[in-house]
Amino acid sequence: MQIVEAPDEFQRVIESMRLKDKSVGFVPTMGYLHDGHMALVKRSRQENDITAASIFVNPTQFNVSGDLTNYPRDLGRDLDLLENCGADFVFVPSVESIYETDTQNSVVHRVNISVSNINSVFEGAHRPGHFDGVALIILKLFNLVGRCRAYFGLKDYQQVLLIIQLVKELFIPVEVVRCQTVRQSDGLAMSSRNARLNDHQLSLATVLYRSMFDALRLIESGTVRIDALKERITSQISKIEEINLEYVDVVTEGTLETPEFAEGPVRILIAAKLGDVRLIDNLGSEEIFGNEKAMQSAGVAGLKG
Ligand code: PAJ
Repeated sequence: MQIVEAPDEFQRVIESMRLKDKSVGFVPTMGYLHDGHMALVKRSRQENDITAASIFVNPTQFNVSGDLTNYPRDLGRDLDLLENCGADFVFVPSVESIYETDTQNSVVHRVNISVSNINSVFEGAHRPGHFDGVALIILKLFNLVGRCRAYFGLKDYQQVLLIIQLVKELFIPVEVVRCQTVRQSDGLAMSSRNARLNDHQLSLATVLYRSMFDALRLIESGTVRIDALKERITSQISKIEEINLEYVDVVTEGTLETPEFAEGPVRILIAAKLGDVRLIDNLGSEEIFGNEKAMQSAGVAGLKG
């Protein structure tokens, strides 16, 4: 596995692979890797000749500065994991090589990329500026990597929609591959932020998945009013004092639209704070009982051919 620090070198080595007719898979990350990240790397290896990952804790996507300082890091361990998983290249740039910095070492950037419909709702509304930072770094990374397949986890559902829109509207030669959320056996979605929770908090956090799963079962039994799903989740989570629910909502699968009734596949989005750790998760009706069944129980059987 080749470790590359300089952006221009990264661009050059990936281009040289493409010139040898190698297909390129790219997995951007912020490090502190876990099985969720590794699933993206494994999928990329299956579908491409070479796989490049990046590790960069992107300062412009942190809207709360403490979150950036507290973000867990362990480069040595990350590099071992990537090497064992068979990644071919890993890009580990410094902040200064990606962004201009001023005399106080603060990032300066004059180009802003903003995807307005993503910015204004859910994570966008709760974390002002976050998605502008994600869009900016992803555009920079895509410009370095060039034509490739890029792997993103549905764990960050809104982020996936942002990337798909960015690629489409700016004609970026990247195929975006969406990958299922990897969970622990108790349902908790794998996240680098879980490292900041103690054992007690980790067990409390499983209520996020359980409550979403439970609510989606209501669709199966015929209750399809979205308000009922939201109420059920809210009441389950509010029983746990330590958890502060920021929002729970239900969108039509593949969009950020909020329907009144679950007519067809839907996805629950949730954000909550446990101590000072902010967790997000989401679950789609298709994930728990398959597309056909979701449609049937929502009374729209036959819609899909
Ligand atoms: P990070 O949180 O490190 O995540 C990197 C990639 O791993 C993202 O595509 C994310 O959705 C995916 N991922 C995280 N947890 C996952 C899980 N449990 N199952 C499946 N996939 C999972 O997301 C970012 O970094 C950054 O915003 C980034 C895109 C790198 C831009 O800075």
